[in-house]
Amino acid sequence: MKTIAIAMQKGGVGKSTLAKALGVAGARAGLNVLVLDMDSQQSTTQWAERRKDALPVVRFATEIDLPKLLSQAEEAGCDLVVIDTPPARSTEAPAAVEYCDLVLVPCAPDIEAYEQLPRTARLARTSEKPAAAVLTMAQPNSRAEEDIARQVFETVKLPMVPAVIHRFKVHRDASREGVTACELEPDGKAAAELEALWDWVSAELQLNTSAVVHKRA
Ligand SMILES: Nc1ncnc2c1ncn2[C@@H]1O[C@H](COP(=O)(O)OP(=O)(O)OP(=O)(O)O)[C@@H](O)[C@H]1O
Ligand SMILES: [Mg+2]
Repeated sequence: MKTIAIAMQKGGVGKSTLAKALGVAGARAGLNVLVLDMDSQQSTTQWAERRKDALPVVRFATEIDLPKLLSQAEEAGCDLVVIDTPPARSTEAPAAVEYCDLVLVPCAPDIEAYEQLPRTARLARTSEKPAAAVLTMAQPNSRAEEDIARQVFETVKLPMVPAVIHRFKVHRDASREGVTACELEPDGKAAAELEALWDWVSAELQLNTSAVVHKRA
Protein backbone atom coordinates (compact mmCIF):
# COMPACT_ATOMS: atom_id res chain seq x y z
CA MET A 1 0.00 0.00 0.00
CA LYS A 2 1.26 3.47 -0.88
CA THR A 3 0.19 6.69 0.83
CA ILE A 4 0.22 10.23 -0.54
CA ALA A 5 -0.12 13.27 1.75
CA ILE A 6 -1.37 16.43 0.10
CA ALA A 7 -0.23 19.34 2.21
CA MET A 8 0.13 23.09 1.92
CA GLN A 9 -0.30 25.63 4.67
CA LYS A 10 -1.93 28.19 2.31
CA GLY A 11 -5.68 27.69 1.92
CA GLY A 12 -7.53 27.38 -1.37
CA VAL A 13 -4.60 26.23 -3.51
CA GLY A 14 -6.22 23.03 -4.78
CA LYS A 15 -5.28 20.45 -2.12
CA SER A 16 -8.74 18.87 -2.04
CA THR A 17 -9.10 19.10 -5.83
CA LEU A 18 -5.89 17.10 -6.28
CA ALA A 19 -6.83 14.60 -3.54
CA LYS A 20 -10.19 13.94 -5.23
CA ALA A 21 -8.62 13.75 -8.71
CA LEU A 22 -5.89 11.31 -7.63
CA GLY A 23 -8.41 9.22 -5.71
CA VAL A 24 -10.68 8.93 -8.75
CA ALA A 25 -7.75 8.29 -11.12
CA GLY A 26 -6.46 5.48 -8.90
CA ALA A 27 -9.88 3.87 -8.64
CA ARG A 28 -10.31 4.11 -12.43
CA ALA A 29 -6.91 2.45 -12.88
CA GLY A 30 -8.23 -0.56 -10.98
CA LEU A 31 -6.62 0.21 -7.63
CA ASN A 32 -8.29 -0.18 -4.28
CA VAL A 33 -8.23 3.46 -3.13
CA LEU A 34 -9.07 5.20 0.13
CA VAL A 35 -9.20 9.00 0.41
CA LEU A 36 -8.82 10.32 3.94
CA ASP A 37 -10.22 13.78 4.60
CA MET A 38 -8.37 15.29 7.58
CA ASP A 39 -9.92 18.75 7.20
CA SER A 40 -12.61 19.47 9.81
CA GLN A 41 -14.48 21.45 7.12
CA GLN A 42 -14.99 18.03 5.50
CA SER A 43 -15.50 19.37 1.97
CA THR A 44 -13.96 16.23 0.44
CA THR A 45 -16.30 14.07 2.54
CA GLN A 46 -19.27 16.16 1.36
CA TRP A 47 -18.09 15.83 -2.25
CA ALA A 48 -18.09 12.03 -1.73
CA GLU A 49 -21.68 12.22 -0.51
CA ARG A 50 -22.60 13.97 -3.77
CA ARG A 51 -20.98 11.03 -5.63
CA LYS A 52 -23.40 8.58 -3.99
CA ASP A 53 -21.82 5.11 -4.31
CA ALA A 54 -19.12 5.94 -6.84
CA LEU A 55 -15.52 5.12 -5.87
CA PRO A 56 -13.17 5.99 -4.27
CA VAL A 57 -14.13 5.39 -0.65
CA VAL A 58 -13.73 8.63 1.33
CA ARG A 59 -13.51 8.78 5.14
CA PHE A 60 -13.00 11.64 7.60
CA ALA A 61 -9.96 11.09 9.82
CA THR A 62 -8.27 12.87 12.71
CA GLU A 63 -4.58 12.48 13.53
CA ILE A 64 -5.64 10.21 16.41
CA ASP A 65 -7.49 7.78 14.07
CA LEU A 66 -4.89 7.96 11.31
CA PRO A 67 -2.48 5.12 12.29
CA LYS A 68 -5.38 2.74 12.97
CA LEU A 69 -7.21 3.67 9.75
CA LEU A 70 -4.03 3.13 7.73
CA SER A 71 -3.33 -0.29 9.23
CA GLN A 72 -6.97 -1.30 8.70
CA ALA A 73 -6.73 -0.13 5.08
CA GLU A 74 -3.56 -2.15 4.54
CA GLU A 75 -5.14 -5.26 6.06
CA ALA A 76 -8.21 -4.79 3.85
CA GLY A 77 -6.01 -4.86 0.73
CA CYS A 78 -5.97 -1.15 -0.04
CA ASP A 79 -3.44 -0.21 -2.74
CA LEU A 80 -3.41 3.56 -2.38
CA VAL A 81 -4.38 6.07 0.32
CA VAL A 82 -4.64 9.76 -0.55
CA ILE A 83 -4.70 12.07 2.47
CA ASP A 84 -6.24 15.54 2.11
CA THR A 85 -5.05 17.87 4.89
CA PRO A 86 -6.38 21.22 6.14
CA PRO A 87 -4.77 24.63 5.55
CA ALA A 88 -3.04 26.75 8.21
CA ARG A 89 -0.75 25.39 10.86
CA SER A 90 -2.33 22.11 11.88
CA THR A 91 -1.56 18.87 13.66
CA GLU A 92 -3.15 16.93 10.78
CA ALA A 93 -0.62 17.79 8.06
CA PRO A 94 2.42 16.69 10.13
CA ALA A 95 0.64 13.41 10.99
CA ALA A 96 -0.21 12.76 7.32
CA VAL A 97 3.37 13.53 6.29
CA GLU A 98 4.74 11.19 8.97
CA TYR A 99 2.79 8.22 7.57
CA CYS A 100 3.09 8.88 3.83
CA ASP A 101 5.38 7.69 1.05
CA LEU A 102 5.10 10.91 -0.97
CA VAL A 103 4.23 14.51 -0.05
CA LEU A 104 2.55 16.56 -2.76
CA VAL A 105 2.55 20.31 -2.18
CA PRO A 106 0.02 22.13 -4.39
CA CYS A 107 0.90 25.79 -4.86
CA ALA A 108 -0.97 28.52 -6.74
CA PRO A 109 1.11 31.20 -8.50
CA ASP A 110 0.32 33.89 -5.89
CA ILE A 111 2.63 35.75 -3.56
CA GLU A 112 0.51 34.65 -0.58
CA ALA A 113 1.05 30.99 -1.49
CA TYR A 114 4.77 31.50 -2.17
CA GLU A 115 5.10 33.14 1.27
CA GLN A 116 3.66 30.03 2.96
CA LEU A 117 5.67 27.56 0.88
CA PRO A 118 8.85 27.46 3.05
CA ARG A 119 6.88 26.22 6.10
CA THR A 120 5.33 23.32 4.17
CA ALA A 121 8.65 22.58 2.44
CA ARG A 122 10.32 22.46 5.88
CA LEU A 123 7.67 20.04 7.12
CA ALA A 124 8.38 17.75 4.17
CA ARG A 125 12.14 18.10 4.55
CA THR A 126 12.20 17.30 8.27
CA SER A 127 10.12 14.18 7.60
CA GLU A 128 12.71 13.07 5.00
CA LYS A 129 9.86 11.89 2.79
CA PRO A 130 10.03 12.36 -0.98
CA ALA A 131 8.19 15.59 -1.75
CA ALA A 132 7.30 17.62 -4.83
CA ALA A 133 5.43 20.83 -5.58
CA VAL A 134 2.56 20.98 -8.06
CA LEU A 135 1.81 24.33 -9.69
CA THR A 136 -1.97 24.74 -9.56
CA MET A 137 -4.37 27.39 -10.84
CA ALA A 138 -1.82 28.69 -13.34
CA GLN A 139 -3.06 31.01 -16.06
CA PRO A 140 -3.80 28.97 -19.21
CA ASN A 141 -1.80 29.71 -22.38
CA SER A 142 1.09 31.35 -20.57
CA ARG A 143 4.44 30.02 -19.41
CA ALA A 144 5.38 33.08 -17.36
CA GLU A 145 3.86 31.80 -14.11
CA GLU A 146 5.36 28.37 -14.64
CA ASP A 147 8.85 29.84 -15.03
CA ILE A 148 8.52 31.92 -11.85
CA ALA A 149 7.07 28.96 -9.92
CA ARG A 150 9.99 26.75 -10.97
CA GLN A 151 12.43 29.29 -9.51
CA VAL A 152 10.40 29.63 -6.29
CA PHE A 153 10.19 25.84 -5.86
CA GLU A 154 13.95 25.60 -6.44
CA THR A 155 14.66 28.07 -3.65
CA VAL A 156 12.73 25.88 -1.16
CA LYS A 157 14.36 22.74 -2.65
CA LEU A 158 11.11 21.17 -3.81
CA PRO A 159 11.24 19.44 -7.20
CA MET A 160 8.43 20.58 -9.50
CA VAL A 161 6.01 17.97 -10.82
CA PRO A 162 6.11 18.25 -14.62
CA ALA A 163 2.31 18.23 -14.85
CA VAL A 164 1.00 21.79 -14.36
CA ILE A 165 -2.64 22.31 -13.36
CA HIS A 166 -4.06 25.42 -14.98
CA ARG A 167 -7.06 27.45 -13.87
CA PHE A 168 -10.18 25.98 -15.49
CA LYS A 169 -13.79 26.46 -14.41
CA VAL A 170 -14.48 22.75 -14.96
CA HIS A 171 -12.75 21.98 -11.63
CA ARG A 172 -15.36 24.07 -9.78
CA ASP A 173 -18.25 22.65 -11.82
CA ALA A 174 -17.02 19.11 -11.23
CA SER A 175 -16.75 19.63 -7.48
CA ARG A 176 -20.35 20.84 -7.36
CA GLU A 177 -21.49 17.73 -9.25
CA GLY A 178 -19.51 15.34 -7.01
CA VAL A 179 -17.14 14.36 -9.81
CA THR A 180 -13.70 15.39 -11.10
CA ALA A 181 -12.75 17.27 -14.26
CA CYS A 182 -11.76 13.89 -15.80
CA GLU A 183 -15.30 12.63 -15.34
CA LEU A 184 -17.14 15.84 -16.31
CA GLU A 185 -15.10 16.73 -19.41
CA PRO A 186 -12.97 13.67 -20.24
CA ASP A 187 -11.59 15.22 -23.43
CA GLY A 188 -10.84 18.63 -21.95
CA LYS A 189 -7.49 20.22 -21.12
CA ALA A 190 -8.09 20.03 -17.36
CA ALA A 191 -8.66 16.27 -17.64
CA ALA A 192 -5.44 15.83 -19.64
CA GLU A 193 -3.49 17.72 -16.95
CA LEU A 194 -4.94 15.58 -14.15
CA GLU A 195 -4.10 12.44 -16.14
CA ALA A 196 -0.52 13.67 -16.56
CA LEU A 197 -0.36 14.25 -12.80
CA TRP A 198 -1.68 10.74 -12.15
CA ASP A 199 0.88 9.26 -14.58
CA TRP A 200 3.70 11.05 -12.74
CA VAL A 201 2.42 10.00 -9.29
CA SER A 202 1.87 6.37 -10.26
CA ALA A 203 5.36 6.16 -11.78
CA GLU A 204 6.91 7.86 -8.73
CA LEU A 205 5.19 5.44 -6.33
CA GLN A 206 5.69 2.50 -8.70
CA LEU A 207 1.97 1.78 -8.62
CA ASN A 208 1.84 -1.10 -10.99
CA THR A 209 -1.78 -0.74 -11.99
CA SER A 210 -1.77 -3.47 -14.63
CA ALA A 211 -0.35 -5.95 -12.07
CA VAL A 212 -3.11 -5.02 -9.62
CA VAL A 213 -5.83 -5.50 -12.21
CA HIS A 214 -4.20 -8.80 -13.22
CA LYS A 215 -4.03 -9.93 -9.57
CA ARG A 216 -7.76 -9.28 -9.11
CA ALA A 217 -8.67 -10.96 -12.39
N1 LIG B 1 -7.08 24.37 -11.27
C1 LIG B 1 -8.18 24.97 -10.82
N2 LIG B 1 -8.85 25.84 -11.63
C2 LIG B 1 -9.96 26.48 -11.19
N3 LIG B 1 -10.52 26.28 -9.98
C3 LIG B 1 -9.90 25.43 -9.14
C4 LIG B 1 -8.72 24.72 -9.51
N4 LIG B 1 -8.35 23.94 -8.46
C5 LIG B 1 -9.24 24.15 -7.50
N5 LIG B 1 -10.19 25.03 -7.89
C6 LIG B 1 -11.32 25.53 -7.11
O1 LIG B 1 -10.78 26.42 -6.12
C7 LIG B 1 -11.43 26.23 -4.87
C8 LIG B 1 -10.40 25.79 -3.82
O2 LIG B 1 -9.88 24.54 -4.22
P1 LIG B 1 -9.65 23.38 -3.16
O3 LIG B 1 -10.82 23.25 -2.27
O4 LIG B 1 -9.19 22.20 -3.91
O5 LIG B 1 -8.43 24.02 -2.36
P2 LIG B 1 -7.84 23.60 -0.93
O6 LIG B 1 -6.38 23.89 -0.96
O7 LIG B 1 -8.26 22.23 -0.59
O8 LIG B 1 -8.60 24.63 0.03
P3 LIG B 1 -8.60 24.57 1.64
O9 LIG B 1 -7.22 25.01 2.03
O10 LIG B 1 -9.65 25.56 2.03
O11 LIG B 1 -8.89 23.16 2.05
C9 LIG B 1 -12.53 25.19 -5.11
O12 LIG B 1 -13.73 25.87 -5.40
C10 LIG B 1 -12.03 24.43 -6.35
O13 LIG B 1 -13.10 23.89 -7.12
MG1 LIG C 1 -9.23 21.45 1.08
